[in-house]
Order: sequence, then structure tokens, then C-alpha cells
Amino acid sequence: MLLVGDFVKIKIFDSASEASKFAAKKISSLIEKSPKATLGLATGRTMDAVYNHLSNRYKTTPFDCSNTKAFALDEYIGLEPHDENSYRYYLDFHIFNPLGFKQENTFLPNVHSQNLEEAAKEYEDSIAASGGIDLQILGIGLNGHIGLNEPGSSIDSRTRAVNLSQKTIDSNRPLFKDAQIPMKAMTMGVGTILEAKEIILLATGKSKAEIIKNLIEIEVSSDLPASFLKTHPNALLALDRDSASLLS
Ligand code: GLP
Repeated sequence: MLLVGDFVKIKIFDSASEASKFAAKKISSLIEKSPKATLGLATGRTMDAVYNHLSNRYKTTPFDCSNTKAFALDEYIGLEPHDENSYRYYLDFHIFNPLGFKQENTFLPNVHSQNLEEAAKEYEDSIAASGGIDLQILGIGLNGHIGLNEPGSSIDSRTRAVNLSQKTIDSNRPLFKDAQIPMKAMTMGVGTILEAKEIILLATGKSKAEIIKNLIEIEVSSDLPASFLKTHPNALLALDRDSASLLS
């Protein structure tokens, strides 16, 4: 189903798997058409299925990712790259290694720098040097965050170090099992994200139904950072029946 609202497009799929397949197909089609494309990639539970579909597709019909660049949305401060909870580990494991990305074409904010402000600026410069992001894949936090732009983030925010909200810490805690969850991260800003040429925000599952309802109903507001996507000319919201279940 295709609805037209404040968002340019909203697509509702029968299942989380169908919604994830759609996002995976968008990524593979872009790489097939433009092997030198630049991707912006989210992490998190919602993305597991997307990257699974993508690597399955790659196994059956390989496409050349050796010239494709990818920028992570965010990274925790305080985790080493080999830490299984780091987003570097996540992206290497789920997408960069299975699809044969060259390591030098994969970027995460340098959270190990002594000067995080400088590292943030370098990240912005690297995105600009790659020609900007062609396709940005996003998930959404239970409080409406995109990347780790928590409520209160401004529309023109750029890559920076941020404190995580209690809601985000609680929501991501199960992923850390016994390990301590970081309280800080570096994230692309809302302004950085909005410069992507095309954006897909994927939300699946009942746990996202309430924030999706709020997202559709709210005016553009820093109380719900994902609402800033309504100002983007080419942003699509991809939902499954569960995450769309509270929409009238
Ligand atoms: C995490 C990530 C985001 C992700 C969101 C939702 O904190 N930093 O990029 O989109 O929160 O995560 P999940 O898909 O696990 O619900």
C-alpha cells in the first residue's frame, strides 16, 4: 500500500521480511546501477533482516561492491572496533565483509580520536569528498531518534558527540548482555542526514507502532527528530503491518 502524507511516500508491507527485502533491493539496485555510489547505513535490530536479505541476494547474484563507499550513521564512544557491540563490528560482520567492501571505503566516526570535534569535522569532510550520500538507510529509536540524534536535536545539527538518552540506553541494553553499555556516541547530525539524496526509514514490529503514529501525526519538531525527514523531498517510510498498526 502506498500512502501520501507529509512524507513524500509511505509504503506498508505485509511483513517485516517484505519491508526489509524492499530496503535490501534498494541498496543492491543502487550498487548495480552505480557501483561507485555512497551509502549511509544504520545499525540495530531492524537492520539485521535488511543486511541478511542483502547478503543472500549477493550470494545468488553477486554485484560489485569494491568501489562502493559506506558511512555509518553513528558509533559508540568507548568501544574498541573489535568489540562485538561496536557498530564497526556490526557493519563489518553484517554487510562489509559478506559483500566484499574494501575496508578503506567504509567509514565510521573516529570515536578514538583525542579531539572528537575535529574527528566529527573530518567525518563530514569525508562524506563531502565522496560526493555526498546517495542512499541513506535509517531505523528509528523508540523516542523518535534517527542515528543517535535524540529528542532536542536541531534540524541543522552536524556530526558530533552526544549523550544517549535513558530510553535509548534501556532499549539497547539487551544487546549488550552482561557488558556495560556506553552512555555516549558520535552520530551524523540531522542536517548531515538530510543532505542525502534519498532516504529510507524502515520501522518494523509492534514496538515501533506508537512512535510511528506520533511521527505521522506530529508537525516537524525537534521533540521527535525523525519528523525532520518530512522536510526532505525524497524520503520514504517503509513499514510493516505491525509498525503501521496504530495508523488510522
Ligand atoms: C539505535 C541505532 C539507530 C537505530 C535505532 C533503532 O540506537 N543507533 O541507528 O536505527 O537505535 O534500533 P533497533 O532497530 O534495534 O530498534
